[in-house]
Amino acid sequence: MRTQVGIIGAGPAGLLLSHLLHLRGISSVVLEQRSRDYVERRVRAGVLEQGTVDTLVEAGVGERLLREGLPHHGIELRYGGAGHRVAFEKLVPGRSITVYGQQEVVKDLIAARLAAGGDVRFEVEDVALHSLEPGLDSGPYLTFGGERLDCDVIAGCDGFHGVSRPAIPEGVLSVYERDYPFAWLGILARVAPSSEELIYTRTERGFALHSMRSPTVSRFYLQVPADTKAEYWPDERIWAELKARLESVPGFTLTTGEIMEKGVTPMRAFVAEPMQYGRLYLAGDAAHIVPPTGAKGLNLAVADVRVLTEALAAYFADGSTELLDGYSAACLKRVWRAQHFSWWMTTLLHTFEDDDPYGRRLQLSYLDYVTSSEAAATTLAENYVGLP
Ligand code: PHB
Repeated sequence: MRTQVGIIGAGPAGLLLSHLLHLRGISSVVLEQRSRDYVERRVRAGVLEQGTVDTLVEAGVGERLLREGLPHHGIELRYGGAGHRVAFEKLVPGRSITVYGQQEVVKDLIAARLAAGGDVRFEVEDVALHSLEPGLDSGPYLTFGGERLDCDVIAGCDGFHGVSRPAIPEGVLSVYERDYPFAWLGILARVAPSSEELIYTRTERGFALHSMRSPTVSRFYLQVPADTKAEYWPDERIWAELKARLESVPGFTLTTGEIMEKGVTPMRAFVAEPMQYGRLYLAGDAAHIVPPTGAKGLNLAVADVRVLTEALAAYFADGSTELLDGYSAACLKRVWRAQHFSWWMTTLLHTFEDDDPYGRRLQLSYLDYVTSSEAAATTLAENYVGLP
């Protein structure tokens, strides 16, 4: 078998790339280790930047997103017994975010690929990458389940734990990383949101986030110890802790309900540079991950894919490699801005065990600054809705 672009991973990055390439008349095959059911149910983040929404809409896969997504024009920062709204409509006029679950994006993209006759293969075993070295006469190829797929280019869109990045020889990549000494416990609950907008709360008990998916489904996160397990968190304990952290302003009551899903996410930052080796290009979590506090992961993946699509279109049009050669540098600018923003939001809102009283005072001072200075609030707002 042969295709122009062999894509590893049917998450948002791999599926969107396959779809955008199809619109440019470029063929691809998507190989996914998990089942379709699994990837469509995998609960992940849900905040789409304006640019992400625009990309999906322009690509013709935004119909349900525009119908069911929840446009948000602000978020609340809650600490010290009061809530403070960061008003996007005032700080970054005309720009907003849309709350729409990542797995809904995945469902829409799979449906679009299959409707167009796209080749997306699920439950593919033992995917391996070959002949990646630059300067070979023959192109790279993929093997899986006894088959071979020859490609002009391979796109590694298989996430942080995928096979693509480890296929790059030792010594090629520089890795930058930071592990945070806590995790997030995320839950999905069948209950109407208790707030119209997202609430990011800092308390002495730790951070909590009130998010949502629809008028009847809410999403919550709690800062928890890094070594915790979902089993340690029976439903009553989760609700009690969410109440203790979120009911920290007068008059706010958290409505509880059935918990449908529970999971622990480690808090980690990671960047591998360059995002390329020979004719292998990494996109999304395969190359970089951020702690979820800034809601940037999915948006970075979409931004990578936009850049990669343009570069591949130029390459297949006339063989020019200029954009492909600049792919990594072009993506890493945005990646590092998001790394900094995610680190900043994380540091601003979480409790750190080794923090002394001086550090806590600094944190509160910065929160006061962000919630009282228009300049500081604009910094948060423009990063949150996404830089152009
Ligand atoms: C989510 O709704 O899953 C979500 C929202 C905001 C974040 C992270 C996750 O910062």
